[in-house]
Amino acid sequence: MCGIVGYIGTKEAYPILIKGLKRLEYRGYDSAGVALINDNGQLSVYKTKGKVSDLETFVTRKDISGNIGIAHTRWATHGEPCSVNAHPHYSSSERLALIHNGIIENYALLKEKLQAKGFTFRSNTDTEVLVQLIEYIQVNHRTSLLTAVQLALREVIGAYAIAVIDREDPDVIIAARKSSPLVVGIGEGEFFLASDATPIVEYTDRVIYLDDGEIAVIRRGGALRVVNLNNVECPHEVQRVAMDLGQLEKGGYPHFMLKEIFDQPACITDCMRGRINVEGTNVVLSAVIDYKERLLAANRFIIVACGTSWHAALIGKHLIETFCRIPVEVEYASEFRYCNPVIGSNDVVIAISQSGETADTLAAVELAKTRGAFIYGICNVIGSSIPRATHTGSYIHVGPEIGVASTKAFTGQVTVLTMLALTLAREKHTIDKDQYLSIVGELQKIPDKMREVLQLNDRIAQLAKIFTYAHNFIYLGRGYSYPVALEGALKLKEISYIHAEGYPAAEMKHGPIALVDTEMPVVVIATQNGLYEKVMSNIQEIKARKGKVIALVTRGDTAISRIADTCLELPEMPECLEPLIATLPLQLLAYHIAVCKGMDVDQPRNLAKSVTVE
Ligand code: M6R
Repeated sequence: MCGIVGYIGTKEAYPILIKGLKRLEYRGYDSAGVALINDNGQLSVYKTKGKVSDLETFVTRKDISGNIGIAHTRWATHGEPCSVNAHPHYSSSERLALIHNGIIENYALLKEKLQAKGFTFRSNTDTEVLVQLIEYIQVNHRTSLLTAVQLALREVIGAYAIAVIDREDPDVIIAARKSSPLVVGIGEGEFFLASDATPIVEYTDRVIYLDDGEIAVIRRGGALRVVNLNNVECPHEVQRVAMDLGQLEKGGYPHFMLKEIFDQPACITDCMRGRINVEGTNVVLSAVIDYKERLLAANRFIIVACGTSWHAALIGKHLIETFCRIPVEVEYASEFRYCNPVIGSNDVVIAISQSGETADTLAAVELAKTRGAFIYGICNVIGSSIPRATHTGSYIHVGPEIGVASTKAFTGQVTVLTMLALTLAREKHTIDKDQYLSIVGELQKIPDKMREVLQLNDRIAQLAKIFTYAHNFIYLGRGYSYPVALEGALKLKEISYIHAEGYPAAEMKHGPIALVDTEMPVVVIATQNGLYEKVMSNIQEIKARKGKVIALVTRGDTAISRIADTCLELPEMPECLEPLIATLPLQLLAYHIAVCKGMDVDQPRNLAKSVTVE
């Protein structure tokens, strides 16, 4: 939620900030703004409703010079999206400008106190309260900006990543973090600041990730200082980041989402690289081996996640219970933290998160840690908060995911969960050797089978035209395919704004079947696996009520093609690996329907990629 960028050095700041905002636009895109201090010491704030491109238009013919600046792209929490509520926010005298990602929970109380002292506010945001408070302290206590920030943040309850500049001291940016990510890039005589490393990597590969409670004092020509709210120096480690810049571009595709769908064969190869031996006979997740005693001693596993990652968790439950015979519970991270969960030192909690920053998942991890559980993270963004909060874990290594609708991260998560289940099952001796070898062999074939499935793209693009005007969709699947149905429905909802529900196929007759009529498209995952005959009966029930059935079937299936309206064929696959290929046509269907409807596929309304607020 919200993207933050900052620059201080010898170059013109504006182009660096705008490019950075474009890289971070996936985090929020309802308004954008920039603050710059020019060589005459003037602090200018330009901000507007809309996207970063609207900001670029807005600043035409304005003074955008200066080699210090901060910029922001917003996902509204407090106050509607409009230029007044956009960041940066000025302080009362317009001496300071501040950007913020997070929520200041006690802002109303702080605002009342300031109003009682005569302060007035231009916006409805929590952020403006903070910048006014900082200036109030700075002036009344006659302190430096750093001290004012430290004192102000001591009064704040909530989550923040902030950056603040002061026209009276144009050589410094003060940045602070609590529960919202912040990375400082260290260049030659210049510093960069951002919510993640993507705006930084083309200038420098040396970064530090701020920890909660830390404040970076970024002074031109000086060394980076990191202190806490009590002004105690915090040792910090400079890390190297490696990122393929091509992954941050669309590479000829019209949307990041389509690129990321088509990237999946290569991403899954990357995800498995070094984890399956060349002979294709052995899977090793090093974190599982390193902590195998702890994992094998667990009473049960609890998987916490949100959204698409929660769907991957449901598949993980099947895999771990089937192969490892360890009971697994799957919890929405947002509910888990508030339900006083029964959890103790014999439990293992697996946290799944693409961004590694989801506030609810991070809070669930912290809660489980305080109860003594062992925490295993499955994340994509290297160095993000969740991997840093866990005891161990495995990255999915699928590269930056920019489209707000998660695609390649889902298949990466399921691949890691499969490797985790297989590694653990072999250590626990709960899988027989032939079955193990067969699944490992099939897992290696997934990238090629994904390529085959992606050839359905043109057909699905045609099919999408028929369903562009649908108001509702139902997705059905059983066993391993039920979470795939949920994921297909979520993709459609997110980017096409068509109401869609996923159900276990057999649950239809307990209520949802009442919705079926000639207008209702029903997508059914009906491959030839364990419950094939039963799913076929469910399709008959829908057809008897004149619903439109789009079925995913195993190649060569003739029985379902006789009753379904449309069949999309998938290559043969063991049931446990089927989610890795069956999800792709559903991603493509959602994508093409959204494109036909003229929707903003990569940046759907109301959503943000990284949900760093509750
Ligand atoms: O970064 P995370 O995996 O923790 O994000 C969780 C959800 O916010 C995320 O999966 C969301 O549901 C996506 N927009 C789904 O496409």
